[in-house]
Amino acid sequence: MGDTLRAAAFLDKGGTGKTTTVAHLGVALDELGYDVLVFDLAGKQGDLAKHFGVWERYQERIEDDEAWPNVSTVFDDAWDTIAGKLGDDAVVDLVVPTEEGPDLVPAHPGLDTLDSELGNIDDTRERYSRLERFLDEYVDPLGYDVILIDLPGMTNNVSYNGLWAARHVITPVEMGPFEAEQADALRRDLAKIAENFAVDIDLALVLPNKVDTRTKLAEEYLSAFTDEYPDAIAPEYVPYSQDIRNAAENGETAFALAEPSTTARRAREAYLDAAETLVERLGGEHHG
Ligand SMILES: Nc1ncnc2c1ncn2[C@@H]1O[C@H](COP(=O)(O)OP(=O)(O)O)[C@@H](O)[C@H]1O
Ligand SMILES: [Mg+2]
Repeated sequence: MGDTLRAAAFLDKGGTGKTTTVAHLGVALDELGYDVLVFDLAGKQGDLAKHFGVWERYQERIEDDEAWPNVSTVFDDAWDTIAGKLGDDAVVDLVVPTEEGPDLVPAHPGLDTLDSELGNIDDTRERYSRLERFLDEYVDPLGYDVILIDLPGMTNNVSYNGLWAARHVITPVEMGPFEAEQADALRRDLAKIAENFAVDIDLALVLPNKVDTRTKLAEEYLSAFTDEYPDAIAPEYVPYSQDIRNAAENGETAFALAEPSTTARRAREAYLDAAETLVERLGGEHHG
């Protein structure tokens, strides 16, 4: 494959499944034969690393001061100097392998102050393009096929960096009136960014999540979302699955389950379909 494809999971709200989606799409893409890097900017709590069962080990590295450089360092003024000194290891040290396939850049406590640090940069283009520059110069040469970025559930300088760098957005939505409003606000946000900075940010994948089709209302919202986002809607919805919740607590995705329930199997299919669709919409080449 040629260039590295990028997408960022974003919605100005927590709990709809951004982290779950990044983890599962990451594994789905890996199963489809792509080399995947997942990137956690969603906050110092390290949810993505927890989802892959590698947070505790990384936590120890943080406590021993060995997690340096880390995901927050790459936004620093001095990053080029740091990277220059570290040479080839600069980026390699940021990346943690996972048992389910994707490589991971875990979160770090430094993310806590990153938003306000970025806020001190006067020039807006410079403020929002730090991540893009890092990915262009240091990560793309590593040759990953796809990078998925997990973003905070709020609009701030960190999420703007993710949107700016990826230009393609993945949004998991739950079925409800509030969620429909939220998705609408997202569309306005993206249009505003596009207008202010003359960059195109495209809503690449709206993924209905935690869908319980036993309720009539869920069906109605599902078809409303399909009408509203004909170009972005995922081919299949992800059902509500207790297995997903339990797996996450055990540090794995639904793909790792030896005996998946019906909902977990349907979720896997939905993620695999969504992964293929995502690559197409990002303009990537087909594998296999
Ligand atoms: N399809 C699903 N079925 C059941 N639980 C889910 C599903 N998707 C996400 N969850 C659970 O919902 C909670 C919030 O998901 P999460 O991915 O952390 O959201 P966000 O990153 O947007 O805050 C987590 O406990 C997660 O395990
Ligand atoms: Mg999250």
